[in-house]
Amino acid sequence: MEILDIIKGRRSIRDFEEREVEKEKIEKIIEAGLWAPSAANRQPWKIVVVQKKELINELKKLTFKAFKEYTEEKLSRLYPKHPFVVTSTGSFSETLGNAPLVFAIFNEILENEHETILGMQSTSALIQNILLESYSLGLGSCWVSDIILYSDEVAKLFGLDSKKYKLTAVIPVGYPKKEAKPIPRKESRVIYF
Ligand SMILES: Cc1cc2nc3c(=O)[nH]c(=O)nc-3n(C[C@H](O)[C@H](O)[C@H](O)COP(=O)(O)O)c2cc1C
Repeated sequence: MEILDIIKGRRSIRDFEEREVEKEKIEKIIEAGLWAPSAANRQPWKIVVVQKKELINELKKLTFKAFKEYTEEKLSRLYPKHPFVVTSTGSFSETLGNAPLVFAIFNEILENEHETILGMQSTSALIQNILLESYSLGLGSCWVSDIILYSDEVAKLFGLDSKKYKLTAVIPVGYPKKEAKPIPRKESRVIYF
């Protein structure tokens, strides 16, 4: 597949089959992530691969908590005419689409705010690589972020020092139950000189 077909074909998937993701595929996804560019080549990230059901359940609890405390109001405000956006995001937050695999992605807290922002940008590139490689392997994924409100709790869950690592996102991955429809891109987002 051409790179542009992969970029345009990837969708946020929010409902997964129970089927486990093969070890070789997990390794390829990680490899794609680790080959992302990073500011000053610092590679300031940590990928936590979560397949244990109890730990995925803990992530679901925190995602849903973030939804109730923050996202629900935000989406109701942004999409007043589309209540389905709110209810469907809520149920996805509660289940993470029953994904058999979740990546928890952290960025390192560096020596100053500027460096930490560059580290977050680098880690975002890693996340996009993970999403694209997952899609190219026939898998679905979704970038899930409001759970960063509970970064400390998630770091603790995996024995990471919460003063050193900040949660960037969690990414549920699995075989999609069905294809998701493309969401049109907004106009006037490019300026030519
Ligand atoms: C930084 C970031 C945070 C996101 N957080 C969430 C999230 O918490 N929950 C969710 O369901 N989708 C989340 N998404 C996915 C977006 O909703 C999705 O990318 C967007 O609606 C466009 O759809 P597409 O990915 O299928 O092109 C996030 C995406 C990004 C880039």
